[in-house]
Amino acid sequence: MSVKLDSIYKYFSDPDQPDKRVTAVENVSLEINEGEMVTFLGPSGCGKTTTLRIISGFEAPSAGSVWIGGQEVSHLPPNRRDTSMVFQSYAIFPHLSVGQNIGFGLELRGLKANAVKEKVMAIMEVMNLTDLYHRSPDQLSGGQQQRVALARAIVNQPKVLLFDEPLSNLDAKLREQMRVEIRRVQQQFGITSIYVTHDQAEAMTVSDRIVVMNHGRIMQVGTPFEVYSRPANYFVADFIGRANFVPCRVNSATSETVSVAYEGGVREVHSFQGTYSPGDEALTVVRPESLRVTRSAGTKTTGLLTGTVEKRVYLGPTAEYTITVNGSDRTIQAVTYNPVEEGFLEIGDSVEIDFADIAAHLLPTD
Ligand SMILES: Nc1ncnc2c1ncn2[C@@H]1O[C@H](COP(=O)(O)OP(=O)(O)OP(=O)(O)O)[C@@H](O)[C@H]1O
Ligand SMILES: [Mg+2]
Repeated sequence: MSVKLDSIYKYFSDPDQPDKRVTAVENVSLEINEGEMVTFLGPSGCGKTTTLRIISGFEAPSAGSVWIGGQEVSHLPPNRRDTSMVFQSYAIFPHLSVGQNIGFGLELRGLKANAVKEKVMAIMEVMNLTDLYHRSPDQLSGGQQQRVALARAIVNQPKVLLFDEPLSNLDAKLREQMRVEIRRVQQQFGITSIYVTHDQAEAMTVSDRIVVMNHGRIMQVGTPFEVYSRPANYFVADFIGRANFVPCRVNSATSETVSVAYEGGVREVHSFQGTYSPGDEALTVVRPESLRVTRSAGTKTTGLLTGTVEKRVYLGPTAEYTITVNGSDRTIQAVTYNPVEEGFLEIGDSVEIDFADIAAHLLPTD
């Protein structure tokens, strides 16, 4: 089912300062399509959980309305909204077996025992839980427990599946496996899903679209590619991945292309936010992996910028450099892949820094 949020606000009163109120969610409007998986991503306290709880009905909005499948549900209690929530703490019942846990909701709805068992077995197979039917939860690994929680949410065929940081109790490796699995199951069943996380790699992996939030407000809604490569503003560029912000000056601008100048050359940029006129200052967002850094040879400058290597971190598949840009006190971050074959730069090396037109995205300076 589709989900729509229309101008949602949520204020909380602060028990320590009763005359002050906390704005947890501010003017959030969003449409989520049937079968789509959307992630709320943002720093701690930005309003992700509150928004999710407003959708599920566990929290009432201070203003605005919630719609599921074209029907307003703002005033319906949680159990009449047909959503299902998967939490960080899986909340599976310790005294019930895996099979009983998964079938719990179906039994509650009065399904016959053999129908319950059939549905439970089917979902267990999809979730790679076959053979664990009679196990008790304390005999399961963290990943298996999480799969049980997910199976239990899906077996009820909710209209909307809600996830609040479901993987944050798992170790890094399991987290990576489980997010691929969650995405697979979500797509297989085509369940409209809303996923909350502050882990951007997780958001990139599971989402059709990412909603980047800050201080209760939506900063950008876009595909993983859009929020990473075409950030709408400084916050998004800075929050998603690592970004370099390189100042430049506008030479000329049309609706399609902005020509900008750096110390050592010009770039024709096709990706930009805002409008520009000749002479404007702008910020170039360029990711560390898009920089080409080479050791300077002789006195002739060939890069858009020149710099000096300050720091090097070797991570195995990559080497990361911090480079001070000549003629400024700014540093930029660069990543090189396959350093074994490409060779390393040394601390103190003078370098030429370059990037392609297509790697650049412009933001206004304000
Ligand atoms: N019941 C409450 N009473 C008062 N303030 C609240 C209440 N619930 C949340 N808040 C405040 O609302 C804001 C948003 O909280 P929320 O839990 O939605 O953030 P979040 O994005 O989920 O953060 P996290 O990533 O840490 O889980 C915070 O400032 C929080 O302190
Ligand atoms: Mg939260």
